[in-house]
Amino acid sequence: MKIAIINGPNLNLLGKREPDIYGNTSMHDYLIYLKSKFPQFQIEYFQSNVEGELINKIQEIGFSNHGIIINAGAYSHTSIAIADAIAAINTPVVEVHISNVFTREDFRQHSFLTKYTKGSITGFGLQSYELALISFDNVK
Ligand code: DQA
Repeated sequence: MKIAIINGPNLNLLGKREPDIYGNTSMHDYLIYLKSKFPQFQIEYFQSNVEGELINKIQEIGFSNHGIIINAGAYSHTSIAIADAIAAINTPVVEVHISNVFTREDFRQHSFLTKYTKGSITGFGLQSYELALISFDNVK
């Protein structure tokens, strides 16, 4: 089963960025753990700080992949274009946030993506990605 994890802006800095909020582990190290724990999934990872590149990736894989896990970072709260891309594809999308966006600033409490996703997982640290992956287990 092909699952892509797509990370948006500033998530290339995981492990260095505001560790009190986002933790000390880099995505590189976390992916090694995820791939070994879930060998049943073919996990592709893509990160970009550029909105259009995220949209290009969603379009590229959104008609062939089994699933997409997306953390669009701050674009979650601003990007109608990424929301439109998710609405346009037929691959199910799970939205993920590392921090609990509902306990943070007001501007983080709305995501344009949510309406077009299968579900959202927020606030479990990097484990949010793992919980999203589990949601695709046994799904055809
Ligand atoms: C985030 C939450 C967003 O509000 C923030 O802009 C991010 C990361 C999270 O994973 O908690 O960049 O998506």
